[in-house]
Amino acid sequence: RMNVYNISTGSQALNEIIGGGIESGSITEAFGEFRCGKTQLSHTLCVTAQLPHEMGGGNGRVAFIDTENTFRPERIIEICARFDLNAEDVLDNIVVARAYTSEHQCELLDHVAARMAADRFALLIVDSATALFRVDFTGRGELACRQQKLNQFMSSLTKIAEQFNVAVWITNQVMSTPDAMAFAADKKPIGGHVMAHASTTRLALRKGRGEQRICKIFDSPMFAEAEATFAIGVGGICD
Ligand code: GTP
Ligand code: MG
Repeated sequence: RMNVYNISTGSQALNEIIGGGIESGSITEAFGEFRCGKTQLSHTLCVTAQLPHEMGGGNGRVAFIDTENTFRPERIIEICARFDLNAEDVLDNIVVARAYTSEHQCELLDHVAARMAADRFALLIVDSATALFRVDFTGRGELACRQQKLNQFMSSLTKIAEQFNVAVWITNQVMSTPDAMAFAADKKPIGGHVMAHASTTRLALRKGRGEQRICKIFDSPMFAEAEATFAIGVGGICD
C-alpha cells in the first residue's frame, strides 16, 4: 500500500499498542460508554493530524463529521498551545460538517470526498458513526434496514480511506442493557458484524481513576490484546 503513516493520539502508551498511532488508509474505531474520552481523542487527533510526519502527524487537513454537536473550537485552541501550533491556522484546516440525520450523514461523505480530491487531507473523523442510525431506526423491525444503511456508510468510509490515504477515526457507543451495565466486560459496541467487518482496528475505552482512561485492543488480527492507560489533560490526550 502507498505510504502508510500513523497519526499520534497524544499518548505514547496508547500509540505503542497500536503501532505508533492511528493508521492512514484504514478505519480505527473507538467505542465505550459516555465520558470515556472518544470526543477528546477526536479533538486531539484534529491537531496532531496536522503536524509534519516526523512529529507524529499526517501533514494534512482534517474533516470532522459531527453528529452530536460536540465539536469545540476552544478545545482545539488549548490543544494547539501544547503542540506550539498557530490555533487560527489549525482551525482553518479543520472542515466541520454537522450531520442531522443518518441519511444526511451519508450524503456528507460525497462532499468530503470532493474536498479531499482538491486538497491534501490526513484525517476524517466521524463522532459518532452510529448515534444517528440508532435514532433513525428504533423499532426491532427496522434493525435489518439500519444495518444495511450502516453497511453502505462504512463501505464509503473504507473507500475514502483507501482512495485518499487518510486515516479514518470513528467513535461508537456500547449497548446499555441492564446486564451490560452491571458487567463492564460485557459491554458490546453498537452495529454488530457490520462495524466489526469494516473497522480495521477497534479500541475499547473505559474509565479509570479520575482523568485516567484505559484503552484495550479489541479483536485485532494485527495487534496483541494489549492495554494502555492514558489521561485527558488541558492539552488533550496525554500519558
Ligand atoms: P460520550 O460522547 O458522551 O459518549 O462520551 P465521550 O467518550 O465522547 O467522552 P469525552 O471525550 O467527551 O470525555 C469526557 C471527559 O473528558 C470528561 O469526563 C472530562 O474528564 C474530559 N473533558 C471534557 N472536556 C474537557 C475539557 O474541556 N478540558 C479537559 N481538560 N478535559 C475535558
Ligand atoms: Mg462524545
